[in-house]
Amino acid sequence: MLKVKVVGTGSFLPPNRVTNFDLAERMDTSDEWIRSRTGIHTRHLLDPGAPPAQMGVEAARAALAAAQLPPAQVDVLIAATNVSEQPVPGTAPHIAAGLDLPNEPAFLDLKAGCSGFVYGVALAGAALAAGVFRCALVVGIEALSRFVDWTDRRTCVLFGDGAGAVVLTPSPDEAAILGVSLHGDHGKLALLRVEAGGVRLPASVDTVKKGLHFLKMEGEGVFRAAVPMMEQATREALHQAGLAPQDITWLIPHQANLRIIRPLAARLGIPEERVVINIDRVANTSTASIPIALDELRRAGRLSPGDVVALTAFGAGAAYGTVILRW
Ligand code: ACO
Repeated sequence: MLKVKVVGTGSFLPPNRVTNFDLAERMDTSDEWIRSRTGIHTRHLLDPGAPPAQMGVEAARAALAAAQLPPAQVDVLIAATNVSEQPVPGTAPHIAAGLDLPNEPAFLDLKAGCSGFVYGVALAGAALAAGVFRCALVVGIEALSRFVDWTDRRTCVLFGDGAGAVVLTPSPDEAAILGVSLHGDHGKLALLRVEAGGVRLPASVDTVKKGLHFLKMEGEGVFRAAVPMMEQATREALHQAGLAPQDITWLIPHQANLRIIRPLAARLGIPEERVVINIDRVANTSTASIPIALDELRRAGRLSPGDVVALTAFGAGAAYGTVILRW
């Protein structure tokens, strides 16, 4: 469908690895509760004071090295993230500065909840196929540890920090983005939200006192919406590609919760050995989760040319979508 391919992947996890047992020392929770409800054993958290964009710089450097392309080649940089480095400017310019990209490429932040990376790959792919750009760097980056309420055990145990990146270039002879399905259900705005700090409710002493800068989640609602959304988008993208679920070599779902990933795979009829799961080690890294999982799969030598890879996500908004790649 789109004559564009992924030529490099990279990822970065901050070194501070925090186990469920570590959390149980700080709050009223347990390894058993977290593991059985989510599949999470550990997560990596960014040190206080460390600049989040540096995670994106490291992931992007690794992706460019894997692609054997110099930074000068990049002519568009998309940073998919829920919470930017600072309100103005966003994360992408900080990553461009950290990489010292020499050719003043286009850069932008893309906010589509945990689906931002999937959206970014689809939109960068379309722009490359149309000839607008020649080399795109798409980075999924998240430091939600800075935005969760560490006194709210219902949310803080779920998330980890990290970044992942891919380099995309046109591939004149073959279509490697085979199918794309992107959607948003605006009826579900309240499922995942940070209420204050934007223009609707600017930061004030009162909003800080009320904890309105923290991420809030309707866990039950997310749980019920996630599986049908990702299934629908995956079936639509497969249909566009002229493929069926059994043609998928690797399903890489957003790593929100093992209890979401497993029913999704079951509904699509994809056996667990073809589902990429790393939530046990890295928890939910939001829009970074898919590129981190993709990079780990590649570095483990488990991706072969011709493999069909389905990237599927859902998240705040509620934005959801799937991209089908031919590796
Ligand atoms: N440790 C121990 N007990 C806890 C914890 C915790 N970390 N968190 C909640 N509990 C307690 C609650 O206080 C409650 O106790 P109570 O009945 O005495 O009040 C009990 O456990 C059940 O709480 P629920 O919130 O109902 O827990 P539930 O079984 O629904 O699981 C969860 C919560 C895992 C978030 C679930 O709703 C879920 O899987 N939701 C899907 C959403 C999700 O995974 N989101 C990830 C992020 S969103 C995204 O990526 C797009």
